[in-house]
Amino acid sequence: MRFEPAHGLAGELKAPPDKSISHRAALLGAMASEPVRIERFLHADDTTATLRAVAALGALVEERVEEVIVRGTGLREAREPGHTIDVRNAGTLLRLLPGWLAAQEGRSFTLDGDQSIRRRPIDRIAEPLRQMGAELNPTDGRYAPFEVRGARLRAISHELGVASAQVKSCVLLAALAADGATTVGEPAQSRDHTERMLLAAGVGIHRHGRHVTVQNTDELLLHRVRVPGDVSSAAFLVTAGVLVPGSRLLIGDVGVNWSRTGFLRIVRRMQGIVLGDLEPEGGELSAEEPVSDLDVAHGALEGAVVEAEEVPLAIDELPLVALLGCFAEGETVVRGAQELRVKESDRIAGVVDGLRGLGGEIEATDDGFAVRGTGGLRGGALDSRGDHRLAMMGAVAGLASREGVEVAGMETAAVSYPSFVEDLQSLHP
Ligand code: S3P
Repeated sequence: MRFEPAHGLAGELKAPPDKSISHRAALLGAMASEPVRIERFLHADDTTATLRAVAALGALVEERVEEVIVRGTGLREAREPGHTIDVRNAGTLLRLLPGWLAAQEGRSFTLDGDQSIRRRPIDRIAEPLRQMGAELNPTDGRYAPFEVRGARLRAISHELGVASAQVKSCVLLAALAADGATTVGEPAQSRDHTERMLLAAGVGIHRHGRHVTVQNTDELLLHRVRVPGDVSSAAFLVTAGVLVPGSRLLIGDVGVNWSRTGFLRIVRRMQGIVLGDLEPEGGELSAEEPVSDLDVAHGALEGAVVEAEEVPLAIDELPLVALLGCFAEGETVVRGAQELRVKESDRIAGVVDGLRGLGGEIEATDDGFAVRGTGGLRGGALDSRGDHRLAMMGAVAGLASREGVEVAGMETAAVSYPSFVEDLQSLHP
């Protein structure tokens, strides 16, 4: 699909529902004792995989126009589906679901997914779940397909080797059915949607700095979840608005949880214009997911440095930091982001090769990249490598480029943002 240079993008639209929160709402819905109504559930490839998975495990899923209703099995009553659970391309499902399955005493489950999923490490969840008493058998010690055998679980204290919300969430979900209080520590703060939703579900959960402690419980009482707009999807629109001269966009209903808005802070540091009411750092753990409208306008950019501490707060948007860096004055550097190598694709290689192919001056490092801003991009062709975020980055690059960009594999945007191309087109004057 081809994206031609644009001028003066304008319009008002709503960010699509949040993918991370939709996955969690469906999973917690399946683990809850009473029906859970999920308003603005994201209907995309990844989250559909989660609805199918929980249905296969015994939850009743009713998809209505305005909401999805999940009637769960309770914490300890997931049934064996009698077939492999297909997580498709969804890393969040791959890492979170085993947390629940680990607590299904005497039952066994097998998970697998697409080719990309088979390259994504799960040893990081296997280790704590084994400590808790479950059995996991990953392929070659660290990959899907793998089996989870549920057991009576022990509470543990676990320090994460990498700041990963998926691994943290996996342990927190398993901890609900363990025999006491479990503590998880992370090297840097990652997104905290699971903690907030557990608090909303009546679970005893506390945060002390970078440690989260969760009490075991008999049941989750979560009646209603309203999913805010996805700031990671909105980030593509923000980037288009900041890069395309003469643009002014209003993006409504964006989730602005502090642990997700690192990218917006980076854009502001680069002198991009993004107005909105972002949640401040350092509040008490709250059950709320704050939202804001974002008002975005084109601005002259300066390079920025992103260090390890900030990486988990902007992890899925780092490809866009590279793209912005191509248009900025001076150098843009991202460090401490080796996790990018094990996302839906190797995103360091994909971003560097992709932007170079469009005329960008960018070098890969082991744990990130360095971009020399040249005031713009020529354009050309970019391969999505089956990665939704690379495809969408290519499309935005096309609008801001001098000659346009041809993206191979644009359809993969359906993983997280099915109406992306339509939304982008609606912004053309
Ligand atoms: C996610 C956490 C992040 C992120 C992914 C979604 C989540 O992954 O990249 O897209 O919903 O918890 P890691 O936890 O592996 O960093």
